[in-house]
Amino acid sequence: MAMTTTSNDFVPALGRAGNIDRYDRVIALMTRERRWRSALVELIDPQPGERIVDIGCGTGTLAIALWQKAPGALVTGVDPDPAVLAIARAKAAAAPVDWVHAMGDALDDIPHLAGCDRITSSLVLHQCPVAVKSSILRQKWRLLRPGGQMFIADYGEQRSFLMRLLFRQVQMIDGFDLTEPNAKGCLPGLMEDAGFEDVAERAVIPTPTGSISLYSAVKPG
Ligand SMILES: C[S@@+](CC[C@H](N)C(=O)[O-])C[C@H]1O[C@@H](n2cnc3c(N)ncnc32)[C@H](O)[C@@H]1O
Repeated sequence: MAMTTTSNDFVPALGRAGNIDRYDRVIALMTRERRWRSALVELIDPQPGERIVDIGCGTGTLAIALWQKAPGALVTGVDPDPAVLAIARAKAAAAPVDWVHAMGDALDDIPHLAGCDRITSSLVLHQCPVAVKSSILRQKWRLLRPGGQMFIADYGEQRSFLMRLLFRQVQMIDGFDLTEPNAKGCLPGLMEDAGFEDVAERAVIPTPTGSISLYSAVKPG
């Protein structure tokens, strides 16, 4: 496991809701996980031989699913929390995912991540201050090879009264300051500010905790 700059300045996977051992069950129940996670894997469309980086990988569900979809892809999961990485490593069993302990915007000195083909994150940016959302997006841009693609699944703009109401549950757990910019639709603009082109919201999936949007974007070739 590679080590780099680490910090304790991040919101853990379940925010204030506590016990990380419950994370996978809570996400499955509260986010219609099967629906958005499988749609994200389809969108990413991993291919054998590609280098794919999942920033804020948490308990590793997405990184493992990407490898399972394309055995032979070189998948790296990055997270600053050793507790979730321990769960990810145990879950991965035979999947040879590379787990890196690091903040999502401190990856320039990890040579095997540079020039990757695809980069992704799920449910990470809504938990970060705006400056960190930007910083992670800029990091993704630097790591990708020219022409490489970025994919994000996260709580995006909450467009209806019901979705805004349901998203309050996430806001209570992860903090209003961090989450409200997402609810107001900040992500596409931040992606463009980071240098990405063809930024598109590819799906909006209503869940019991607000709508989760899937985005794609390209680093110009
Ligand atoms: C809600 S969890 C999502 C985990 C996983 N991606 C998923 O889809 O289940 C958010 C994750 O982002 C990580 N995280 C928080 N701040 C981060 C940062 N600045 N850089 C990288 N990861 C971060 C947390 O440690 C946590 O594992």
